[in-house]
Amino acid sequence: MFLLAVVALTLVQRVGIGLGDPLQIERQARMEASAKEVEDRNLQLKSGLYAGTKTFWKTSKQKQAMPATSDSTEGPGIMEERTASRIWDVSSTNCSANLNFTNQDWFLGLEANFKQFLLYRHCRFFPMIINHPEKCSGETYMLMVIKSMATQHDRREVIRKTWGKEQLVYGKKVRMVFLMGTSSNEAEKANHQKLLEYEDYIYGDILQWDFQDSFFNLTLKETHFLKWFSTYCDNVRYVFKGDDDVFVNVQNIFEYLEASAEIKNLFVGDVLFKAKPIRRKENKYYIPQALYNKTHYPPYAGGGGFLMDAPLVKRLYWASESMELYPIDDVFLGMCLEVLQVTPIKHNAFKTFGLVKNKNSKLNREPCFFRSMIVVHKFLPQDLINMWNLVNSNLVCSQKVEIV
Ligand SMILES: *[C@@H]1O[C@H](CO)[C@@H](O)[C@H](O)[C@H]1NC(C)=O
Ligand SMILES: *[C@@H]1O[C@H](CO)[C@@H](O)[C@H](O)[C@H]1NC(C)=O
Ligand SMILES: *[C@@H]1O[C@H](CO)[C@@H](O)[C@H](O)[C@H]1NC(C)=O
Ligand SMILES: *[C@@H]1O[C@H](CO)[C@@H](O)[C@H](O)[C@H]1NC(C)=O
Repeated sequence: MFLLAVVALTLVQRVGIGLGDPLQIERQARMEASAKEVEDRNLQLKSGLYAGTKTFWKTSKQKQAMPATSDSTEGPGIMEERTASRIWDVSSTNCSANLNFTNQDWFLGLEANFKQFLLYRHCRFFPMIINHPEKCSGETYMLMVIKSMATQHDRREVIRKTWGKEQLVYGKKVRMVFLMGTSSNEAEKANHQKLLEYEDYIYGDILQWDFQDSFFNLTLKETHFLKWFSTYCDNVRYVFKGDDDVFVNVQNIFEYLEASAEIKNLFVGDVLFKAKPIRRKENKYYIPQALYNKTHYPPYAGGGGFLMDAPLVKRLYWASESMELYPIDDVFLGMCLEVLQVTPIKHNAFKTFGLVKNKNSKLNREPCFFRSMIVVHKFLPQDLINMWNLVNSNLVCSQKVEIV
């Protein structure tokens, strides 16, 4: 796929294709493509048999003939039509800077990135560039939602091959989407966009909004997802939300959820209680007093990976609407939980703030340990594949390794 991407980039540079309606039409046509079809298409793609992807790069206005398929595991057609006919109701991007406080001392003393954040803090919603209204059609047990960026193509490839595979687990449907903004690299923006459209054309698993993918805009990714989910996903039981550089053990998620079926307002992850805002300016998570002046954050789960039930996701959307955006996305979600008076559950199988204190600990490379985990950060793509293969091999573990 990397090779393909390189070829693709060359093509974009040479032909300079404009984006337009044909893509939209094609996407509609293949809305119901199942994971199996995607795999088949990839095989055909590798062997050069798949005509569709070649024509993707031509400016042809012709609608491509995609086989319209019906997935026998889907529910009745009426329901699908209903969700597919819903729309993302934001179509304008013009939100201008809020200059109300720009001459005040507390504002003038802030670092440039915080100024930028505050100027546009009131811009809540942006239009969608790539959407998949059909993603949640039919009964879906779990939707996996992963934050990613245009340049992290290799991470997405690995996730699709490993824990993010759309599949049936114990007969229950698991689906997956990536959440993306637009490339923050102005020079490469057009190329990144075209490659992303191509990637989505093949896999059909990208949601993209028209805001810049930056660290402080991660909270926008959160609120946009909450709104998107509330708009399109009525038949999902659970949502796993995570980063694109974590190891996830889907089987253990299922075991956990089966055992937790009774819990209402389920929100579980690597939860911090009484975390303090970081006041050291060198730190990535530094927050000036002017932005947050309390001594502690409400309980929140590390954004690397956490689980929630669908009704709670919808209530979180409702809560988020009443809040000002906060530049750290996982803290923001903690603030929303606080509004709902829901206390997140801390579980030791979620390790999003580092595994064990000692980086050289043998546990970091011990596959039997990963067998008993749900989420572990932080992996390079190749390391993730290697660990995945080990954990899913005929590994003999004397017992589940637990660290509590
Ligand atoms: C912004 O968009 C709104 C409609 O969404 C329109 O009424 C308004 O004139 C636009 N403003 C500018 C400056 O383009
Ligand atoms: C700026 O202040 C004016 C007057 O108080 C208010 O009407 C407006 O909504 C404020 N702008 C934003 C973006 O908050
Ligand atoms: C977030 O995205 C918007 C829209 O692209 C952009 O105007 C704004 O500067 C971004 N904010 C930050 C803090 O990067
Ligand atoms: C903290 O911030 C709030 C809201 O911005 C403000 O009303 C309050 O006066 C501040 N408290 C202190 C101690 O600075």
